[in-house]
Amino acid sequence: VAVLVLAVGAGFTWLYTSADVSTVGSTDFRNELAIPPLAKSTLRKDGTRVFDLTMQAGEREFMPRRKTPTWGFSGDYLGPTLRAGRGEKVEVRIRNTLPEPSTVHWHGMHLPARMDGGPHQMIDAGGVWTPRWTVNQPAATLWYHPHPHGATEKHVQRGLAGMFLLDDDRTERLTLPRRYGVDDLPVIVQDVRFDGARFDHGHPLLASVGFLGDRTMVNGTLAPYREVGDELIRLRLLNASTARVYTFGFDDGRDFSLIGTDGGLLEQPAVMDRVKLSPGERAEIVVRMRPGERTVLRSHPLDAGMDFFNQRFSGGDDSFDVLQLRAAPSLRPSPGLPARLGELAVPDGSDSVRGRHFELKFSGINGRKMDMGRVDETVARGTAETWTIRNNDGMPHNFHVHDVQFRVLEVNGKRPPAALRGAKDTVFVPSGTTMKVAMRFDGPADPDTPYMYHCHLLYHEDQAMMGQFVVVEKGQRAGTPHPAHGHE
Ligand code: C2O
Ligand code: CU
Repeated sequence: VAVLVLAVGAGFTWLYTSADVSTVGSTDFRNELAIPPLAKSTLRKDGTRVFDLTMQAGEREFMPRRKTPTWGFSGDYLGPTLRAGRGEKVEVRIRNTLPEPSTVHWHGMHLPARMDGGPHQMIDAGGVWTPRWTVNQPAATLWYHPHPHGATEKHVQRGLAGMFLLDDDRTERLTLPRRYGVDDLPVIVQDVRFDGARFDHGHPLLASVGFLGDRTMVNGTLAPYREVGDELIRLRLLNASTARVYTFGFDDGRDFSLIGTDGGLLEQPAVMDRVKLSPGERAEIVVRMRPGERTVLRSHPLDAGMDFFNQRFSGGDDSFDVLQLRAAPSLRPSPGLPARLGELAVPDGSDSVRGRHFELKFSGINGRKMDMGRVDETVARGTAETWTIRNNDGMPHNFHVHDVQFRVLEVNGKRPPAALRGAKDTVFVPSGTTMKVAMRFDGPADPDTPYMYHCHLLYHEDQAMMGQFVVVEKGQRAGTPHPAHGHE
């Protein structure tokens, strides 16, 4: 039943049409979860690991005998999982065979601005782009997706997204589930809506949040189940939806251990029964299975503490069954989780040399809409800063910064909850929230090529809720970025 909500709040009026959506208990898990293949790579003599990716159009039978037109990387929907180790040189040869220009952005990766794959690194239809960089950051669950200015929501929804896993020696030595596709599962969560065989990507009438689907898909599989044979299962959760916020937990309320956030492992596992992810965020969790049981990863409604408008606009009243895990009658024993996972490699704010303020509004960040020819912020290479992010806009936003991982220092003046105490590159900022985060800009300096910061609700990003920063040598001035035309 369509509900018409007329919301009149501080400075805004929205008309919102929606159906309360719940698939809880109604899902029969009939499709085996697909696991994106690990991308093949070749090693050059100089040690460079080379990947090939092709952006292509195709079709996929998400439902029997219905062919849905899709886009994908080297396949019809989503892309292979890229994997590389800390210290490795990486090169990705990307061919765009789509009928329009796009980009490929490495979300969470620390790398030179020219390799970042933001809106300034467009790949023409029929074109090729070959970014190269050296991986220099801790093991983490990162991802890749297009970033053409004004068309990111559409490109991601059609299926252009994949995971990029980083490894390092320290993590290899820890007793964590690490067999890809066996006890270490990628879980790429998207919400979708179908109109017959086709995707329906329409927005609710005048809705400000962008697209909200009426069911979820994991790794491109509807109503998925996965058989598991180990006591401990690691799930690498990625919210690859364009607008929807999920609060993940299990149907029986069991605890799990959060071991990692966007930028890698926490200092120690944190036990909880819910973890909230807004678009672009990741969480690595480890759940204990009992022999023969079935349990369902579910998204619960957002907590009652969130006000009505935040709830509505983020689809927060909706609940979904996401993935069923089916344990074998007898399970391989797993070693216990280590008590300590490592040190956080993000600054704690004590050596910040300056602060900046970001006021999040749908109409623009700090009162300005994205302009590809304007540098909004200039930061000095090698320095740490503390950024204050505030949302008083009456609707939810989140905040993503390219190139860096940050530490959340404060949420509304208080120590952040356990789920926000790891390295982050994207953070949910519901209306009524002020957050302080600290990060270090380790360069390299490039005064002419900006990195982005933006709301990762992709419709908001496309509507120019984005800004640009450059990293320069101390005392150097920002250059003039090419005002390359956005996507029309
Ligand atoms: Cu996941 Cu600027 O993007
Ligand atoms: Cu937003």
